[in-house]
Amino acid sequence: MPEKFYVTTPIYYVNARPHIGHAYTTIVADVLARRHRLLGDDTFFLTGTDEHGQKIERSAAAAGIAPQAFADEVSESFRTLWKRMGITNDAYIRTTDAAHKRGVQALFSTLYERGAIYLSSYTGQYCVSEETFVEGPPGTIGPDGRPTETVTEENFFFRLSDYQLPLLDLIESDTLKITPESRKNEVLSFLGGNVVEAIKAAGEILAVETDGQRVLGESDVRRFVELGILKQSKSGRPYVVGALKDLSISRSSFTWGIPVPEPAASAAKEKHVIYVWLDALANYLTALGYSSEVPAQKANFEKYWPADLHLVGKEIIRFHCVYWPAFLLAAELPLPKAVTAHGWLLFEDSKMSKSKGNIVRTETILDAFGALCPPPPASVASLPLADPAAPPFGLPSDTEAEGSANAPQPGIPSKQDRDLFAADILRYFLLREIPFGQDGSFSFDAMITRYNADLANGYGNLVSRTLAMIEQYFAGVIPFGKMDEELEVGVQLAKTANFNNFANLDFSVILENIMMMVKLADGHLTKTTPWKLAKDPTKRQELTDSLYSAVETIRIVTSELEAILPFAAGRVFQVLGTQKDHQGEPRWQAKKLGPLSPIFPRADKGLAQIMSDMEQTAQDAKTAAKPTPSTFVDESFTASPLAHLDPTHPAAAPRTGTLSEPNPGLQVAGSNAETTERVGTPHHSEAQSSGIFGNSATQTVQATDASPQITIDDFARVELRVAKVLVCERIPKADKLLRLEVDLGFEKRQILSGIAEWYTPEDLIGRRIVVITNLAPRKMRGLESHGMLLAASASEGGKPALATFLDSDDLPLGSRLK
Ligand code: ME8
Ligand code: MG
Repeated sequence: MPEKFYVTTPIYYVNARPHIGHAYTTIVADVLARRHRLLGDDTFFLTGTDEHGQKIERSAAAAGIAPQAFADEVSESFRTLWKRMGITNDAYIRTTDAAHKRGVQALFSTLYERGAIYLSSYTGQYCVSEETFVEGPPGTIGPDGRPTETVTEENFFFRLSDYQLPLLDLIESDTLKITPESRKNEVLSFLGGNVVEAIKAAGEILAVETDGQRVLGESDVRRFVELGILKQSKSGRPYVVGALKDLSISRSSFTWGIPVPEPAASAAKEKHVIYVWLDALANYLTALGYSSEVPAQKANFEKYWPADLHLVGKEIIRFHCVYWPAFLLAAELPLPKAVTAHGWLLFEDSKMSKSKGNIVRTETILDAFGALCPPPPASVASLPLADPAAPPFGLPSDTEAEGSANAPQPGIPSKQDRDLFAADILRYFLLREIPFGQDGSFSFDAMITRYNADLANGYGNLVSRTLAMIEQYFAGVIPFGKMDEELEVGVQLAKTANFNNFANLDFSVILENIMMMVKLADGHLTKTTPWKLAKDPTKRQELTDSLYSAVETIRIVTSELEAILPFAAGRVFQVLGTQKDHQGEPRWQAKKLGPLSPIFPRADKGLAQIMSDMEQTAQDAKTAAKPTPSTFVDESFTASPLAHLDPTHPAAAPRTGTLSEPNPGLQVAGSNAETTERVGTPHHSEAQSSGIFGNSATQTVQATDASPQITIDDFARVELRVAKVLVCERIPKADKLLRLEVDLGFEKRQILSGIAEWYTPEDLIGRRIVVITNLAPRKMRGLESHGMLLAASASEGGKPALATFLDSDDLPLGSRLK
């Protein structure tokens, strides 16, 4: 049954130009929108830009231009990029649009009328680059690594504290579904507050202590509920009443924002603008026509709201899963059905100069891979015939690559074709390479390797060799025969599995399954050897069945790939001459194949160097340029003095800000966004790592030189080795412990580590870490732990930062640190 489907991306700040991190979210949303359209769903896909707030005001000032002109220019660069990439958003919202501003004021008025907003005075620490208040004394370091600013203001406050229990219940019951599960738990524990702290603060102690782990058993919960220290949600989850504090939702110290409307405005001494996150989140409503008097707009809003899915990066889930649903509840508007947070794209510490940030621009990828785009289908005769006997996934179809590059071409690909072709490759790579929800490394090398293996030698080669044989042995007439049964079963199994995988957003699994179908078809050709059958006139039927089986698989595979590789799939369908039926299924129509052209020519490894040079040039140009209207202040280059040390995130540390309440379990420079933390992220003022791993350029913890000195031999007795985390899971009823299985190269081991409060299993799986390997094994909670992870922490019991590596991928497991 066709349904409606409303999907959104975050609206991106205009203080920085787009990079592939933004492209990642937008690509995922586009894939989903295309998929739903193919299924016949009435789909609305929204993206846009977030243009107000102090951060943008300052960036514009630094560039010497008015904020609106500044926002116009950068917003346009996002919009242009999405067009180049063939992104099919149905609307492009800008928070400086007049209709959006009216809508935000209408929402504010509704909240004010309902008593959800009040005026009060507030002093707090504000982090401008993340546009959020941070807990801590003046001078506290914000999530961006810079000192926060003390803000004393008369503020309008939103009664967020009223929504603690409603939100817990709605989220626990999946009425508002948050995925992945680890993010849902992060939101729930934030909403619930720090239960252990609350118990301690009340002068109570936990009854049960097992292996040094405090466990909150059922009887404890009952006792503390009776004592009035805790309450329980519908599902029985204990929470600290009052852990969720009211939220400041206006600012009066600057002007670049949407003015607080009357009558609230007159109640205040100062002129206020609406908090940029309230302004920004409301885009999901205003883009549909919320509060509009125009009938068509009203109808549009009624039809599409609530959102079926808000896609976000994991650093902004608190805004989407706490503030946003609370605003909607207060306004009595329906809640979004689901929020899904993906992980971060990590950038290898490559030749791109660290001190300049490690962004990869999507334009670089479009330009570089676009150069490989084959010309549009030419006349049949001019086409080189791929070697029909080429083994699957083995030999590159070099004839294709050279043919497209050197042979006289009847046409050259248009700029648009090149962009769309390259966008397909980026889409494929990001979705295939990164298990959705986890962080994933980006590298040019990996992208080329993946492209050659899966698209050039895999899918592209299967299409080229099959169609070339049909051309040669059947004069291009599609040999409708009988599909091989075994092949059919395999293909249908994979297709059925993918239906669920799409629902679960398991893109990497979807693509693995699709490549399995390709392999099955290749295997079928290898087994039936149509190039031999073609030599024997008595084997005509077998030849027909063999090639039909392959081309039918291509039809199905291409249909499965369509939402992910829209450009390539379009070209293949053109050659196959299929027509979509009313369910979007491509059906055989034509008797004869259209003109052939290669699909995915092989990429040379040298392309990686070309791309990193292109990035270098772009960065050099930026550094050389003084701010002018055509340049801008880029948060990634200026935000954090430590940003360049982060081997992972381009703009470094977009961590959620905090509400003003005690941080569950830690006080690290005021940030309690512990679960958005990754291994290897430098923590503001927190030490990178202490002692021998300390970085002299940065602050170190206390006085290491106060410790007694040791000899090199003493140090040599400690065996530190590189290990890779293979398995990582929580241990039931031990909320601090993670069970890890690590690979040391020469052996695998189990290690238990008390870091579950700070790291989720997803954060660790696949990471290379440092393990102390010559510690005697010991038992914890009945399990053997053999070894210890190396980590630094700023204070006893404080948040640890696991020691990890900047350049780790090639590091052999088991390597000794010395
Ligand atoms: O947060 N990896 O805007 P923003 C993956 N304006 N995704 C990334 C990424 C990376 N390295 N870098 C950015 C804001 N993203 C607010 C949002 S919504 C009402 C307001 C993507 O410009 C990811 O989707 O900082 C992330 O959440 C978003 O860009 C942040 O964009
Ligand atoms: Mg950000």
